[in-house]
Amino acid sequence: MLTITTLSLFILFSTCGGISFEEDLTISIKEKNALDELRDRVLPELTHDYMKKDIFLVRWLRARNFDVDAAEKMLLKSLKWRNTNSIDSIGTEDWSLFERNFPYSVDSVNKKGQPLLIISPSTPWDIRSILLTKDGPRLTRWMIKMLEDATARIREEQSAGRNVTRFSMVNTLENFNLVESGCLRCLSVFTAFTNNYEEHYPQTMDQMVLVNTPDIFDGVLRLIRPLLSPSTRQSLKIMGGNKSKWQSQLLNEVDADQLPIDLGGNKPDDF
Ligand SMILES: *[C@@H]1O[C@H](CO)[C@@H](O)[C@H](O)[C@H]1NC(C)=O
Ligand SMILES: *[C@@H]1O[C@H](CO)[C@@H](O)[C@H](O)[C@H]1NC(C)=O
Repeated sequence: MLTITTLSLFILFSTCGGISFEEDLTISIKEKNALDELRDRVLPELTHDYMKKDIFLVRWLRARNFDVDAAEKMLLKSLKWRNTNSIDSIGTEDWSLFERNFPYSVDSVNKKGQPLLIISPSTPWDIRSILLTKDGPRLTRWMIKMLEDATARIREEQSAGRNVTRFSMVNTLENFNLVESGCLRCLSVFTAFTNNYEEHYPQTMDQMVLVNTPDIFDGVLRLIRPLLSPSTRQSLKIMGGNKSKWQSQLLNEVDADQLPIDLGGNKPDDF
C-alpha cells in the first residue's frame, strides 16, 4: 500500500464510524497507477492548483471504482459544468436573501477536525414558500455554494496542516416543513442537492447527520435513498426525534464550543 503524497499517512486509533482519514489517503500500487494515468489525461483541463493534487483526483477514481475512463469522463463533465455555471465566482453573487432565510455555517469542526456544514437550527428553511417565488430556482444554486464553501474549508484545514479529507454535515430536519406540508416540489430541492453532491463533489462528505427527524421521515428517506450512491447512503446518520438523545449523541462527535446552542452545545448562534 502507498500513501497519497499531499498529506502523509498518520495512524489514527479511533475510527468510530464514518470514513477515516487514512482510508482516504491509502491506495494500492495499482490504484496509484490509475491516479497517474488520470492526471496525465486531464492535466491541461485542471484550472486550479488544488485540482492537481492526488487527494482531489483520487476522489473521482474512487467514485468510479478506479475505472480511469469513467473517472475521466465524470471529472471532465464536472469541470465543464463548473465553467458553464460560473461556479468559481458563485461566492461573489448577491446572496443576501438566502443568507437571511436559508442560513448555514461552515466554521465549526467536529472532534475529528472535519469542517461541519451546519444548516441553521434556529432559522427554519422555508423551502415551500421560496419555491413559490421567482427566487425559487436559486435555492439549488445556494446549496451548490454550500458545497463549495464546505469543500473550500477542507482545503483550508489541509493548508493549515490538519489531517482532514472530508466535511460532515448536521441537518435539523424539523426545519424542513416539507413533511407536514407534503411539498413534493420541496423534495426536488433535496434530490438536486444530492445529485450535485454525487456528480461534482464526490467523496467529500464523511457523515450527514440528521437530527430531529420525525417518524414520518422514514417515508421520505425511502424516496431519497435510491438516489444516493452506496457510500453516501452509508454516510447518512439518522439521529431521530428524541432531543436529549440526539443532543448527547451529537456531543459525542462535536465539542460543545463548536456546537450551536440549539443543537445542544454552547456556541453562540451566529447564523
Ligand atoms: C497529521 O499527520 C502527520 C503525519 O502524517 C503528523 O505528523 C501530524 O502531527 C498530524 N497533524 C495533526 C494536526 O494531527
Ligand atoms: C429520550 O431518550 C432518553 C435517553 O437519552 C430517555 O431517557 C427518554 O426516556 C427518551 N424520551 C422519550 C420520550 O422517549
